[in-house]
Amino acid sequence: MIIFQKVSKSFPDGTLALDKASFQINKKEFVFFIGPSGAGKTTVMRLLRKELTPTSGSIVVMDKNLTDTEDDQVPFLRRDVGMCYQDFKLLSDRTVYENVALALEITGMEREKIEKRVAEVLKNVGLSKKANFFPIQISGGELQRVGIARALAPDPKILIADEPTGNLDPESGWEIIKLFKEINLAGTTVLVATHNAEVVDKFKERVIKLEDGKIVSDKKKGEYK
Ligand SMILES: Nc1ncnc2c1ncn2[C@@H]1O[C@H](COP(=O)(O)OP(=O)(O)OP(=O)(O)O)[C@@H](O)[C@H]1O
Ligand SMILES: [Mg+2]
Repeated sequence: MIIFQKVSKSFPDGTLALDKASFQINKKEFVFFIGPSGAGKTTVMRLLRKELTPTSGSIVVMDKNLTDTEDDQVPFLRRDVGMCYQDFKLLSDRTVYENVALALEITGMEREKIEKRVAEVLKNVGLSKKANFFPIQISGGELQRVGIARALAPDPKILIADEPTGNLDPESGWEIIKLFKEINLAGTTVLVATHNAEVVDKFKERVIKLEDGKIVSDKKKGEYK
């Protein structure tokens, strides 16, 4: 499903954010990416959605080599690789429903289908009752659920989350990771970058650890600690 082959990424200022990183992730895996600040976790995620291009090495996502992906194909790639953010990135002047619907409107989906799909994903994340609320009216955990619903709406094969519990209290963070696990069990490949050691310890999933842009360990499900 995902193959990183000796991927390096350096920025114009000379920072080497990723240094010959290689790993493979299979369909339906759940993987945590850990490592200190600046290790390269966000860089991996941005490369996967072609928000960045590697300096060298190759990245294959769902049988497509990203170096060969034309710019006009990138929106399709990003529908297949949904993203959730630490700060949610919701539009404050749109309701929960509208924030999620927007992800589908840009695909040109018919209005009726959008309504049905939004209702479905809001139900999946437990937010049916909050559809008409604005972001300011709901809790942090609920904001993250909206972010997840928005990423799930186009039915991605891969869901990536960059520090999704970073702005949440421990209890809400826990619930969010449980939700990612449910989504994973329903068939989606899930990648989560996190500093939350407690979550990583307890969930016993595969753990890829980065330091200074290098993969320093890759522990199979159940092998970590
Ligand atoms: N656009 C950029 N220009 C220059 N350097 C960058 C850029 N983006 C990231 N970096 C650098 O690349 C390195 C890896 O950054 P990255 O954001 O991937 O780390 P991270 O593991 O996600 O860290 P954190 O845990 O703090 O989120 C860091 O040294 C960072 O400063
Ligand atoms: Mg980061």
